[in-house]
Amino acid sequence: MSDAALNRKSDQSAPGMTLSLVLNGTARQAGVTPQARLSAVLREEFGCEGVKVGCDAGDCGACTVLMDGAPVCACLMPAARAEGRIVETVEGLAEAPGIPGALQRAFLRHGAAQCGICTPGMLVSAEALLRRNPRPTEAEAEEAISGVLCRCTGYAKIISAIVDCHAEAPPAPDGAVGARIERLDGLPKVLGTDAFGADNWPEDTLLVRVIRSPFHHARFAFGDLAAWRAAHPGLRAVLTAADIPGRNLHGVIPPLADQPVFAGTATRFKGEAVAAVVGPRALIEALDLAGFPVEWQELDAALTIDAALDAGAPQVHEGRAGNVLVKGFVRRGTPETALSGAAVVAEGQFSSGFVEHAYIEPEAGFARRVGDRLEVFACTQAPHMDRDDLALIMGLPVDAIRILPSAVGGGFGSKLDLSVQPYIALAAWVSGAPCGMVYTRTESIQSSTKRHPSQITARIGADAEGKLVGMVFEGYFNTGAYASWGPTVANRVPVHASGPYSVPHYEARSVAVHSHCAPSGAFRGFGVPQSSVVQESLFDELADAVGMDRLEFRILNALGVGQPTVTGQVFAQGVGIRACLEALRDDWAARRAQTAAFNAEQARIGGPLRRGVGVAGMWYGCGNTSLPNPSTIRVGLKADGTLVLHQGAVDIGQGSNTVITQICAEALGLPVSAFTLVGADTDLTPDAGKTSASRQTFVSGGASLRAGAALRWQILRRLNAGEGARLTLTGSVISAGDARLDLATLANEANALGYVLMAEETYDPPTSPLDENGQGEPYAAYGWGAHLAEVEVDTELGLIRTRDLVCAHDVGRAINPTLLEGQIEGGSAQGLGFALMEEFIPGRTENLHDYLIPTAGDVPRVRSILIEDPDAHGPFGAKGIGEQVLIPTAPAILNAVRDATGARLRHLPATPDKVLRALHDVKS
Ligand code: FES
Ligand code: FES
Repeated sequence: MSDAALNRKSDQSAPGMTLSLVLNGTARQAGVTPQARLSAVLREEFGCEGVKVGCDAGDCGACTVLMDGAPVCACLMPAARAEGRIVETVEGLAEAPGIPGALQRAFLRHGAAQCGICTPGMLVSAEALLRRNPRPTEAEAEEAISGVLCRCTGYAKIISAIVDCHAEAPPAPDGAVGARIERLDGLPKVLGTDAFGADNWPEDTLLVRVIRSPFHHARFAFGDLAAWRAAHPGLRAVLTAADIPGRNLHGVIPPLADQPVFAGTATRFKGEAVAAVVGPRALIEALDLAGFPVEWQELDAALTIDAALDAGAPQVHEGRAGNVLVKGFVRRGTPETALSGAAVVAEGQFSSGFVEHAYIEPEAGFARRVGDRLEVFACTQAPHMDRDDLALIMGLPVDAIRILPSAVGGGFGSKLDLSVQPYIALAAWVSGAPCGMVYTRTESIQSSTKRHPSQITARIGADAEGKLVGMVFEGYFNTGAYASWGPTVANRVPVHASGPYSVPHYEARSVAVHSHCAPSGAFRGFGVPQSSVVQESLFDELADAVGMDRLEFRILNALGVGQPTVTGQVFAQGVGIRACLEALRDDWAARRAQTAAFNAEQARIGGPLRRGVGVAGMWYGCGNTSLPNPSTIRVGLKADGTLVLHQGAVDIGQGSNTVITQICAEALGLPVSAFTLVGADTDLTPDAGKTSASRQTFVSGGASLRAGAALRWQILRRLNAGEGARLTLTGSVISAGDARLDLATLANEANALGYVLMAEETYDPPTSPLDENGQGEPYAAYGWGAHLAEVEVDTELGLIRTRDLVCAHDVGRAINPTLLEGQIEGGSAQGLGFALMEEFIPGRTENLHDYLIPTAGDVPRVRSILIEDPDAHGPFGAKGIGEQVLIPTAPAILNAVRDATGARLRHLPATPDKVLRALHDVKS
């Protein structure tokens, strides 16, 4: 049978049936295997790729479709059950092809789709509700989407869009900076046509499956691979480390690249790849890999920080003595002396576990060989880094690799590291055919990077008036089997562990420790969320010890203009933490009074519930720590008047496609609607760096501002117009008042890219290296923020319900308030998960029913307060927001729990068992 035939059918060996159904209003038929998943049939046989697959296990709801009007998980539904039924997918919700329906328009208006991978499931679930109840309440909308997980939005804007579906909507603004314009890339997300890593594969794409280690640490040897392959006719390749043409290593920090594509003779974590098989889809899906010829010898493994630091621990890497990858250090003044003279000292030990990114889109993509080049279409946050690493792996020149990022269904830091790319690239190179791969949820959780588990001790002292005098901090971070972003975490934490406060005497040490676990990497905050829990928890104890209000204690100590940070950096402007804390004052006072009254009543009636209010501050440096961090943006005009923005900052849902265009539009002086976007593509867009470290608005936005301004200057010069001239672009004519320039007359001046006028600008924010004491200027700017949480604790069950979050963030300049609110709502939902429920346990929580993330019912409504204290370096004053929004949520919640009950939770996540133990400790 040909590859094409094999590819079309899920299982050729099973008896087939002709499935007849009405799909999106049209009678359709296809030959299928009765037991095939309906989700797969809808995608593969009927081309409805708006049906997304996040887990294949009924946990995420991404595959939700309507069957006879009722929402069902298509991944759990055998195709035969759809026989004779009416099935509707997101593609059926459009008014006409390409024209969104009312609900889809409401999603666009409200910014309810960020990455968009959950959006089809959300839309069809909401559609079912709206058909029986056109004016639902928020509670009804929340209930309707309760089976669909979203990792980006915090659900608030989705619920608002459902409730507001039939409202009269004003036309969307076409403004530039400050306008709540709709996402420029939003339409395909709500139509279900956005191409994620698993979508739009060429016909006859071969499938790649990886064989992974079943042990945390093991030696292995292959048997007769050639004989095994010969016994499986149709296989196109069996790949191992021996097949890597270049360097069998990759890593996001090139000097520390240490992770093999395929382990050679030993594996260092459960789920590490040792081999891959390549072949037609049906063959590969049906393959029983239990007989794959590999012999395993399990070895002793060190999974925890303590186990890895033990004198007799197995070493994870030769040359990294004691399993220490790297250490970080910042020291200022004489902290021990300061602490010995402090009026009060608070101290404690804290810990947290691995946290999984749990984006709803598993890692996916396809690659193909085009002559002597490789094209890789896959989900990524860092296309140029992928290109450089793949070139080394494949032994090819850098310009022989083209990375075309797919739409990214959530990343949050983990899609900075390579995942499917080396496997599909190697398979495509070897086979000559397009090769694709979609991680199962289990292999995604097993092998992707995690938030570092932490073990932290700290002591902080204050004088009798509540002024901080000194702090000593020591943190150990489980960085897993490979370096990934471990050094970044180790370096960032000591810089940030003071929080956004003036601490005159300070010492912070951090250690990244290798273990036999999946690599820890980048996850929204790079270690700062863990250190913030410690510092903000101890602040409450200090405030209590000196008899101060906890919020006023923070305001008293908040960093201000002219005060040195713990690295000795002094800002002359743009320090907004005090304003953020002060913005919470009214809520703080009112809620403290309300919760006190509630608790008094509960005590009177003998009720188990207690409410409390907590607050926490945050700072976070925008961009790389004391390292070059450039972004380049290109904008050009063609002879026909087409205005093109080459915007290579990958939009993983956070909104860079929109924000960077708004900035360019403002700088250039033309409306956003005039722009045509060229999205990230290493052949077409200059390097805008990676989407991480809250750098895209700040750094790529800075490049966009400069590119827009440079093009404007060229235009004004041609028009002989003054700086303040108002530009208009009509067809090929650009004008300012009476001055006009027909771009068509410049046609013969077009450059190689086809532009008659073009600007390409780079921005790299000014920083300085840190000295041996960690003193210097690690970031040009910080983002600042403070969260207030109100919680209710069931003291009998140990359950914590977060009732409300109020989140104040100094964003410098709100380029697009709707997108900023979306970041705050989504980031704080992840912070809630970090505080209360999320922990990856290697070998155990490898799916989305054992690894829990917040559902719509877990997340409170969030009130965002946007403070605009402009930063001199930021585009129009803007600062980063992506990491900032998660950091203060967990400590604010944990402080609220202590406020409610007196119990201090020092070990995250604060699951009911830990809460009950802490409550018991308070009583005893
Ligand atoms: S893919 Fe069906 S519920 Fe997750
Ligand atoms: S928008 Fe919901 S998962 Fe990304």
